[in-house]
Amino acid sequence: MARKLTLATDLLLFSISGFTAFAHTIFQELYVNGVDQGHLTGIRVPDYDGVHLICNGGINPYHQPISQAIIPVPAGAQVTAEWHHTLAGADPTDPADPIDSSHKGPVISYLAAIPNATQTDVTGLKWFKIWEDGYIASNQTWGVDRLIANKGKVTFNIPSCIPAGQYLLRHEIIALHAATSYPGAQFYVWTMECAQLQITGGGSTEPSTVNFPGAYAGTDPGITINIYYPLVTNYTVPGPDVFTC
Ligand SMILES: *[C@@H]1O[C@H](CO)[C@@H](O)[C@H](O)[C@H]1NC(C)=O
Ligand SMILES: *[C@@H]1O[C@H](CO)[C@@H](O)[C@H](O)[C@H]1NC(C)=O
Ligand SMILES: *[C@@H]1O[C@H](CO)[C@@H](O)[C@H](O)[C@H]1NC(C)=O
Repeated sequence: MARKLTLATDLLLFSISGFTAFAHTIFQELYVNGVDQGHLTGIRVPDYDGVHLICNGGINPYHQPISQAIIPVPAGAQVTAEWHHTLAGADPTDPADPIDSSHKGPVISYLAAIPNATQTDVTGLKWFKIWEDGYIASNQTWGVDRLIANKGKVTFNIPSCIPAGQYLLRHEIIALHAATSYPGAQFYVWTMECAQLQITGGGSTEPSTVNFPGAYAGTDPGITINIYYPLVTNYTVPGPDVFTC
């Protein structure tokens, strides 16, 4: 029952707005302090992006076998998430790798503590935002533009003060691009994957948290927006404020 309610809530958000389920881009590789942890290692990747509830799975099944690796990450480490258009990885001949350049929008990272980072059930986790890259008005660029400029790589830090333990890292893109191709309807591509982390060191600060679904609403200014007209002068990334130590 809980699962059905979860699904219904997310589908409601999508059905308010229109929805697509094509393959766009998949976060598939993590680097910790510059060290490559391996392609598809420790990340729950689907075969295609599509309808996402929390970390994929369910109606957007995982690519099999699901990695059972749990990536060790010292608190405070710099991590780099790498996205590509398909699970085959970087493809310089593919103009839509790492993602089609029309897919403008923010890039966002969350963490949630979890008893066992490889457990199947991800409902009821308590998420906190650790990083976001929305819109820079001075040069009219989005987080996705910077992701493309960096060949699919997105770098941010794991907070230094959070308790050691197992976590999921949810790394997400909300593409807001298609409003003009679908007149009268907002049309989104939501894509995210979750990496399985063992955070070591750290401290004892417990960030305040949000739930998925629940952290976003169709009425959020960062979700209901026409990114082409009028010119975007400010953009509020959806979800809570970024947690800082
Ligand atoms: C963690 O979850 C996985 C997948 O469900 C399971 O195989 C493993 O036994 C669990 N580990 C512990 C310590 O409970
Ligand atoms: C836009 O401006 C920001 C801030 O000055 C800069 O970091 C970024 O490289 C510029 N270009 C893009 C594509 O984001
Ligand atoms: C831009 O800022 C105004 C005033 O604070 C706010 O009402 C609006 O929702 C913001 N727009 C976006 C897209 O965040």
